[in-house]
Amino acid sequence: MSGQGRFISFEGIDGAGKSTHVEALADRLRSAGHNVVLTREPGGTPLAEKIRALALHEPMDALTEALLMFAARRDHLQQVIEPALARGDTVLCDRFTDATFAYQGGGRGFDWSTLSELERMVQRIPAKIEGGSDSIRQPDLTLWFDLDPDIAAQRLSGARLPDRFESQPVAFFEAVRAGYARRLAESPDRFVRIDAAQQREQVWQAVEQSARGRGWL
Ligand code: TMP
Repeated sequence: MSGQGRFISFEGIDGAGKSTHVEALADRLRSAGHNVVLTREPGGTPLAEKIRALALHEPMDALTEALLMFAARRDHLQQVIEPALARGDTVLCDRFTDATFAYQGGGRGFDWSTLSELERMVQRIPAKIEGGSDSIRQPDLTLWFDLDPDIAAQRLSGARLPDRFESQPVAFFEAVRAGYARRLAESPDRFVRIDAAQQREQVWQAVEQSARGRGWL
């Protein structure tokens, strides 16, 4: 449902290793002539980056956490994502709504249908013509870097000081992973699941192929 632009999101548990591939795909798409906007959630605007700092470091309950994620998303959509798609740019977003379902829904156990209501409210695109129906903004493609939480924990150990999510036990990330699997089952056409336990080069091949297969490279 993008304007002329394309919207690609990158998902996975902490330690799955997606971030280097987001940047590599941005470079690759730029060399193929795309105008690329590289952004992240929570964040991507001055206001949403302030919300990110709160959500990652201040204690709060699950509803507050979910509302902050969607508040940051609303600002990000209005200020950055929708204008970029309207210009015809390619938007690469390091995490989007699936992360809220996986982390707040799966990880924290927050009510899935309430998240769906918030999703509809925050990501609504009003109909362009009178009598038409509204739609909901979703990525055109979501790359899910799927990794066993035990391996992710080994990769993260010794890294920088963990935030409120990175410091969670492996069981939390099992639940986050199950949340991602549920989102994939709900929208199988939008998702590509990438086995993030592979060597980095093989992971990159899978990332590149997902864009090439859609004719974007
Ligand atoms: P990052 O470290 O990949 O930038 O992500 C920041 C953290 O925020 C990560 O642990 C996942 C978490 N997060 C949520 O819990 N819900 C969300 O909706 C988003 C976008 C991120």
